[in-house]
Amino acid sequence: MTYKHFADSTSRAPEAQRSQRVTDVEKSGLGNLVTAYIDNIEVKVPMGTTILEAAKKVNIKIPTLCYHDDLCLAGVCRVCVVEVEGQKNLQASCSYPMFHTTKVKTYSPRVRRARHNILNLLLKNHYGECYSCERNNNCELQELAKEYNVIDYKFGHVQESRIPKDESSFSLVRDMDKCILCKRCVRTCIDLQEVGVLEAVNRGSKTQIQTYLNKPLADVICINCGQCVDRCPTGALTEKKELDKVWAAIDNPDMHVVIQTAPSPRAAIGEEFEIEAGHSCTKKLNTAIKRVGFDKVFDTNFTADLTIMEEGTELLLRLKSALVDKNPDVKLPLITSCSPGWVKFIEHFYPEKLDHLSTAKSPQQMFGTIVKTWYAEKHGIDPKSIFSVSLMPCTAKKYECARPEMYDSGSKDVDVALTTRELACMIRESGVDLPNLPESNFDDPLGVGSGAGLIFAATGGVMEAAMRTAYELVTGRELPFENLRMMPVRGEEGIKKAQLIIENTVEQWKFLEGAKLNVIVGHGTANAKRIMDMLCRGELDDCHFIEIMACPGGCLGGGGQPIPTNAAIRRARAAAIYNEEEHLEYRKSHENPIIKAIYDEYFTEGPCSHLSHKLLHTSYTKRGKKI
Ligand code: SF4
Ligand code: SF4
Ligand code: SF4
Ligand code: FES
Repeated sequence: MTYKHFADSTSRAPEAQRSQRVTDVEKSGLGNLVTAYIDNIEVKVPMGTTILEAAKKVNIKIPTLCYHDDLCLAGVCRVCVVEVEGQKNLQASCSYPMFHTTKVKTYSPRVRRARHNILNLLLKNHYGECYSCERNNNCELQELAKEYNVIDYKFGHVQESRIPKDESSFSLVRDMDKCILCKRCVRTCIDLQEVGVLEAVNRGSKTQIQTYLNKPLADVICINCGQCVDRCPTGALTEKKELDKVWAAIDNPDMHVVIQTAPSPRAAIGEEFEIEAGHSCTKKLNTAIKRVGFDKVFDTNFTADLTIMEEGTELLLRLKSALVDKNPDVKLPLITSCSPGWVKFIEHFYPEKLDHLSTAKSPQQMFGTIVKTWYAEKHGIDPKSIFSVSLMPCTAKKYECARPEMYDSGSKDVDVALTTRELACMIRESGVDLPNLPESNFDDPLGVGSGAGLIFAATGGVMEAAMRTAYELVTGRELPFENLRMMPVRGEEGIKKAQLIIENTVEQWKFLEGAKLNVIVGHGTANAKRIMDMLCRGELDDCHFIEIMACPGGCLGGGGQPIPTNAAIRRARAAAIYNEEEHLEYRKSHENPIIKAIYDEYFTEGPCSHLSHKLLHTSYTKRGKKI
């Protein structure tokens, strides 16, 4: 097999908006260096660099609130103001590009006074107590109030709630009493995700962040991705907490409480316990989960492997139908369906293209049905006494497990989907010291997953996992990349394209001899939109398989992961995943012995058979503007 790899010039990595601010200047030929003196420290930076960016280079911290690494500039909070020599007014350092020698004071008495006043004004309208707030100890406003010793409510303080909480969504809670109008959520939803259900309405003191027509979040076209939660500096946006349901099940001796853990949280949960990003905690997490009180800890990598078997077979069947049977109705490219934010996005924005979506359920939902069917039967457990929890990097998973299609086991397949942040709360509440725990393994039989399942965590991972299996199935040989690293589909580029030329096939797949398999990988729904627009314009007729993940970076950048999440942290999490993957016993889904067992014992007619369609596949809804 040979491959080609080419990046798409229209794609956007999540940090592209920020880097564009500098690269545009560089492209325009203004790439000369300018000298800045920041608190008398000299630094040379490319012309057009902002004061904030230059200050970072010399380790001077300027406070920010509306600024976020992933987002375009807003310049609305003014907390980053500095004194610029020659300028009468204080300037917002995040949006002040330098084109000539510039002298800046970042903490003069005037600057400190201004920041003090700005913080006092924000706190004046801020209703809520830190001790009862989910962002207590991880809130940018609280942190700045502490740093600037803002303790006196100089301009007063609201004493009662003015805006009722919006708890209508399965995934998110909006508490606008805690909103500081930084508009990070608006820019996330409009610019980064291109969904656009949040907007700033009214002016001046009447400004509010609202949904379309101020409807409850559940009644607008929100895809539940939680990317806005991840970027909100305060407790104004949070996930819908479901800890009480899980504690109640754990405390009930009649319930058999199992948890499946998705690949991404293990590479990120350490950040909740002051472990530096990029350190995987897989086996310590297993121990922590047992100490919290779960009966069994299983690995979602197992059903990621099952997804590869089902979705990979679906792809090969569609290819056969198109190439051999010349069926004009077969829908290619096949598009992945394991990201529930993406599924809701396509249901709303491209309902006419739903036939392209794989019918395979996501690994979370396959797990839910397997636990309450095969596992329950095998171990003589009444499915009604099983409480099935998932640990996910994702807020949209809460919505997914509540979908009416997800009851194929006879009851709700996954009872509760917890985010990484929520499980960290449970671990803390149990007095468990995650960083210092001994390691332990997953439980049998659903604790065996391959490396292919593990790399689902990163953008390109599903594609790479699918290719490891499909290539071997079709040619009888191992994917010919060094150490199985399929680099063309890895990395942060927003849209990646690759071509595989299939040669020397086995007899059964002879019709694929010499075929050029074109694949595309996209992450973040802004990039999904670009891919779907290409599909609608007929530009992807020669494309066969597309992987799309709703969140920037894939699941490891999911809306339920520890806050903060930014480009450097996503990169560190991805490195941890790929590193762990190379040390696993099985690295291809079809080699997983429990996958072989489940097809031998239960889905005896193989992937995409009648029973697997009943339990492991699903259908979608053409929503358009309907909810
Ligand atoms: S949002 Fe921040 S400042 Fe406000 S109550 Fe929560 S922790 Fe405190
Ligand atoms: S909800 Fe959060 S992110 Fe959005 S404007 Fe308010 S404080 Fe900022
Ligand atoms: S969850 Fe996603 S789609 Fe919904 S408001 Fe937030 S960013 Fe927008
Ligand atoms: S961080 Fe600069 S204006 Fe908000």
